[in-house]
Amino acid sequence: MSRRAALDAWAARGLDLEALVGRWLDPGTLAVPTDTLPLAVAPFGVIEVAEAIASLLEGRLTMGDRVRAFEEAWAAAVGVPHAVMVNSGSSALLVMLTALVQTGRLRPGQEVVVPAVGWSTSLFSVAQAGLRPVLVDVDPDSLCLEGEHDRPVLALHLLGCPSRATGPLVIEDACGAHGAMVGERRVGSLGVAAAFSFFFSHHLTTGEGGAITTADRELADAMRSIRAHGWTRERSDRAALEAAHPDVDPRFLFVEPGYNLRPTEVAGAFGIHQVPRLEGYVARRNENHQAWCAAVTELGLPLRVFPQLPGTRHAAFAFPLLLDADAPLDRAELCRRLEARGVQTRPISGSNLARQPAFAQVPGARVEGPLPVADAVHERGLFVGQSHAFDERHAAILLDALGAAFVC
Ligand SMILES: Cc1ncc(COP(=O)(O)O)c(C=O)c1O
Repeated sequence: MSRRAALDAWAARGLDLEALVGRWLDPGTLAVPTDTLPLAVAPFGVIEVAEAIASLLEGRLTMGDRVRAFEEAWAAAVGVPHAVMVNSGSSALLVMLTALVQTGRLRPGQEVVVPAVGWSTSLFSVAQAGLRPVLVDVDPDSLCLEGEHDRPVLALHLLGCPSRATGPLVIEDACGAHGAMVGERRVGSLGVAAAFSFFFSHHLTTGEGGAITTADRELADAMRSIRAHGWTRERSDRAALEAAHPDVDPRFLFVEPGYNLRPTEVAGAFGIHQVPRLEGYVARRNENHQAWCAAVTELGLPLRVFPQLPGTRHAAFAFPLLLDADAPLDRAELCRRLEARGVQTRPISGSNLARQPAFAQVPGARVEGPLPVADAVHERGLFVGQSHAFDERHAAILLDALGAAFVC
């Protein structure tokens, strides 16, 4: 729905939301600082806020028509028949992996290859679903798992870079890679199922939020139960399940062990107006990524960048950097100098997950093979922000700060 059409529809119902919010919110993106390089810029404007207000004024709090409309739009954007919205990317991972086990696509206790560099809950959710995570080192050029694996694999698209890992079953963590592509295929459609996050700092946002995409209807049905108490509502096979269990009141018929990880309708309200922004945002991020890689390389500093790999589209969630082993300053000092010049920094996600204190408490987790790339990332990697809203002024802030950081 266009912004104008939505505003007209609300006005017809007596909600003059344009008057309420339109005068203080820019229609595209909230305020973008131009003298600092923040980690993220909130990628929403008046239309999302107005739609959220409309859902509240209608008295709709938990998921309803807007969440359903967002699911349809997101499935279409990814290129698969089904999307199931949940309340975070971590919940999407948990629901997806639990559904894979409960539908028999994975066996309880089966090993899943997980990248040693990734996010904490990417690792934890594998074990929480009753599977055994095996940490394997990542590729030095993509910082993702690559190549053919002999066990099911969690292809985690790190910071917008698509992983091309394959195996007997490919499960995607696309939480930070909206719109990334391998060949002509979008992440989210590369394997049996994929988890996305719509946390506020991501390409598209629903505040907090997540979704799972899949072409497997039975799996999608299981996920709809697991997201909401294990009951049958929202399932395509609801009628058949109710008929098969005439002794249970169909209003509270529980068919899968589940959780309550439902999104709010406000999240759906944001989501339906976010999806049309995807292409423009990813194109702009991708352009920035390529330009920044070239410009940083040109500075000739002792650090490396991670350009888009042939045959892929990088979605540029954030901009990773890796200090050379013999650089004259360490990661902590580089971060301190960048932060002093208004460039926010973070480690590259959880860096080497095997070195996180929580790893020892993850049931069944183990490391396979040496992890030299993950260790390098752990000791010398960092990222700075990237956004569709950044332009040459932001590139200049980064380049100036990097140049100054290496002047002793
Ligand atoms: C790769 C990856 N997986 C999972 C998550 C978790 O998503 P959420 O914060 O929505 O729970 C993140 C968060 O940024 C992520 O980067």
